[in-house]
Amino acid sequence: MSVQLTLCRLCIRSRPEFLRALANLAATYPDDLIVQELDCMAACDEVPAIMVETDFYPQVSPSDLVALVREHLAPPVADRKP
Ligand code: FES
Repeated sequence: MSVQLTLCRLCIRSRPEFLRALANLAATYPDDLIVQELDCMAACDEVPAIMVETDFYPQVSPSDLVALVREHLAPPVADRKP
């Protein structure tokens, strides 16, 4: 099951810890995570904000990002039981 993550590229550009968390998620879920980067997601007062599918989350930390995406995804392939 894939999950769409939407975020503002302008707001995350200056947050290296957020970019690292995003890169780790993309590497862990290469076939299941769809990242859509917008120039602004109209949440400039609540950055960094993300959307997972249609759910909006304001003021997200890198660990929040990882937890929210994992909640919506199946376990990574390496962790799946036969
Ligand atoms: S510029 Fe990032 S949410 Fe508006």
